[in-house]
Amino acid sequence: MDKSFNYIISPQISEFRKFSPKLKIGVLASGKGTNFQELINLSEKGKLDIEIKVLITNKEDAGCIKRAENVEIPFKIISDKDFSQKELFELEIINTLINYDVELIVMAGWMKIVTPFFIKKFKNKIINIHPSLLPAYKGGSAIRDSILNGSKITGCSVHFVEEEVDSGSLIIQGALPILNDDNIETLSKKIQMLEHIILPQSISHAGFLIRSNFMESY
Ligand code: GAR
Repeated sequence: MDKSFNYIISPQISEFRKFSPKLKIGVLASGKGTNFQELINLSEKGKLDIEIKVLITNKEDAGCIKRAENVEIPFKIISDKDFSQKELFELEIINTLINYDVELIVMAGWMKIVTPFFIKKFKNKIINIHPSLLPAYKGGSAIRDSILNGSKITGCSVHFVEEEVDSGSLIIQGALPILNDDNIETLSKKIQMLEHIILPQSISHAGFLIRSNFMESY
């Protein structure tokens, strides 16, 4: 993969904020977990002051589990299939996050829609990464949709989670061109490379807002 493709990140954040004690985060992920891995790497290198308290996944075969196991991060598999109502499924997640005393919840490839019940419990404390320039291409097939629609520019967005799906205040976006010879695979790889830059930066920024109580009055 050519790492020299053109891209823009806005806003530009040159340095991560310092957190002492480290910012306690809970990660929700359903897939491979490459974003999760990037957070592990930055945390282990001492570059990003986070403590990943717990990984929650809804898929028992999700790649992110192995990544948590490798570095002994506690993980919990909570599948909606094991609950008769969505609220009970979310309650289990909520209780886990409360038990681990997390300050910020990071949806890093979480493929379940969360309800207002969940969002209200953690108002202004949940962020999500999405592979498009929101508000374009919401939903579960954003990269595919952007190609099918003939878009010439796309990217990724990190935003605070609010009640409407893939909405809420944007924190950072990364944009890149869709080239004539791009396909879902090549575009996904490029978008993920941008995601690995903007997600940690967004955590740093969101953590700063939370620690300074800015979001309480927001
Ligand atoms: C990421 O590309 C993220 O943007 C996307 O899932 C992928 C997870 O990759 N999220 C969504 O589509 C949410 N609607 P990862 O498991 O390798 O971090």
